[in-house]
Amino acid sequence: MEQVIDKALRGMVVLGVRNIHHWTDRTFSFQCDRPQTFRFRSGEFVMIGLLVDGKPLLRAYSICSPSWDEELEFYSIKVQDGPLTSRLQHLKEGETIVMRPKPVGTLVHDALVPGKRLFLFATGTGIAPFASIIRDPETYEKFDQVVLTHTCRDRDELAYGYDVIERIRTHEFLPEIVGDKLTHIATTTREESPAMGRMTDWIRDGRLGEAVGGGLDPATDRVMICGSMAMLQEHKEICEGLGFVEGSNADPGQFVFEKAFVD
Ligand code: A2P
Repeated sequence: MEQVIDKALRGMVVLGVRNIHHWTDRTFSFQCDRPQTFRFRSGEFVMIGLLVDGKPLLRAYSICSPSWDEELEFYSIKVQDGPLTSRLQHLKEGETIVMRPKPVGTLVHDALVPGKRLFLFATGTGIAPFASIIRDPETYEKFDQVVLTHTCRDRDELAYGYDVIERIRTHEFLPEIVGDKLTHIATTTREESPAMGRMTDWIRDGRLGEAVGGGLDPATDRVMICGSMAMLQEHKEICEGLGFVEGSNADPGQFVFEKAFVD
């Protein structure tokens, strides 16, 4: 059996898990030690998972930590019959996961041309890559204003986003770097809260523009989008309708998007 596991693990690293936090009955986060040789760009994702019957069962997860951090944090949905998340949600402190240390992704600064404002549109666990981007000093070197929007069904599901903002506020060096450049707009769609509605509606009816001092404009603004397929599609159509051009690592543009992976 050991030999089989050795073979299955080729090219992968085993990481101990700690700081497991169950935010709601649908989401949880956990941290792992970052292997010293592992490098990634803020906003990228990796394949992580568990060995099941000696075979790796892996899914794509955005790294929530910024690229300078010593730990790797992941934020996950719990799907009761999901092959991986039904198991992952029962992780205990000190247990291990496996990771293929090959980070990739398009929600990175390299895929965007320079601009003045950076908009990060997230729904649900789609906030994960932006938890990384908003803690990267490069974000504030490149942009004058950074707007993170997070839309969830219920108030409880907004908690992870608020926690990351609080971690910035109480961090040793981030407050000085971030200054007053970061705006966090958290909305719900199915439970009463101070700010309600889908961000796609906020963009179309002008509520977003009002909140941040002007509507989306490809001349000055850059956009990253992460959420469900339906959400991505709608945001993409809005961006394209306003004249934004999609970017990639090879050919940077004015907006990029990625599916919030695990479902
Ligand atoms: P709604 O409650 O109106 O469906 P989910 O948990 O299903 O991924 O949804 C997360 C959030 O994304 C919910 O607040 C949901 O709103 C919102 N959402 C779903 N589809 C879209 C879309 N096409 N555009 C914008 N937001 C969306």
